[in-house]
Amino acid sequence: MRRPIIAANWKLNMLRHEAQAFLVAFRADWDAETHEASPEIIIAPPFTALETAARALNDCNVALAGQNVFFESSGAFTGEISPAMLRDAGCRYCIVGHSERRSLFAETDQEISRKAHALLKAGVRPIICVGETLEEREAGKTEDVLAAQLDGSLEDLEPVNARDIVLAYEPVWAIGTGRTATPEQAQETHAFIRAHLQAGRLRDQAKTLRIQYGGSVKPDNIRALMARPDIDGALVGGASLRPDSFARIACFDQPENTSS
Ligand code: PGA
Repeated sequence: MRRPIIAANWKLNMLRHEAQAFLVAFRADWDAETHEASPEIIIAPPFTALETAARALNDCNVALAGQNVFFESSGAFTGEISPAMLRDAGCRYCIVGHSERRSLFAETDQEISRKAHALLKAGVRPIICVGETLEEREAGKTEDVLAAQLDGSLEDLEPVNARDIVLAYEPVWAIGTGRTATPEQAQETHAFIRAHLQAGRLRDQAKTLRIQYGGSVKPDNIRALMARPDIDGALVGGASLRPDSFARIACFDQPENTSS
């Protein structure tokens, strides 16, 4: 049984007072509901709002995540943040290898693998992102691209640690574009990812490993995505910036409130 996992990726958004106001409003909606599917909820604020978010989420079962990390634990690396610093700031998770990091900051699978390894060592669970571009999909290369990203990003992973990682499939063409993969397309790709892991070193772990979908997830498409057997959660960007819309996504297991 894989516990659903819904994460908010705030990217380069939210000053501390905005994060505070968001979390007060979100908690009012979230705490008011009973959650049959008992999804795990994660918020990834910018580093500067982590402490504010940790205070606002005190006594509540919403976890915090970093959006990025460096693989060294200390030293002369101006501007970087270590896994232990994230943990110290209250993070249980950290996103690594987001497509924006891969494309805008030239992050490689090898760096992502080192980051994931360093996070696990520090007791922080990595959310490792993979995804193909539109060009790659249209050229029929989706599976090859994902296989290479998975093999490279998981290179340092000991199978025994697989229970502490989460994967996020985020087709680059669906991120921030309003163009979501259909539930069928997402399911097909998630099933490929699971089968690929099962055929490799993670044969015994692939069935229990959680795979989130990311790319224009909204309150009105979350249910159809979550109904698919290999989609275990969502990594939400734009629609996670408003407390009401993220609450509706997080409450995907509730009957839809038609008044909102
Ligand atoms: P989006 O972003 O929901 O705005 O498409 C998702 C992500 O980049 O994680």
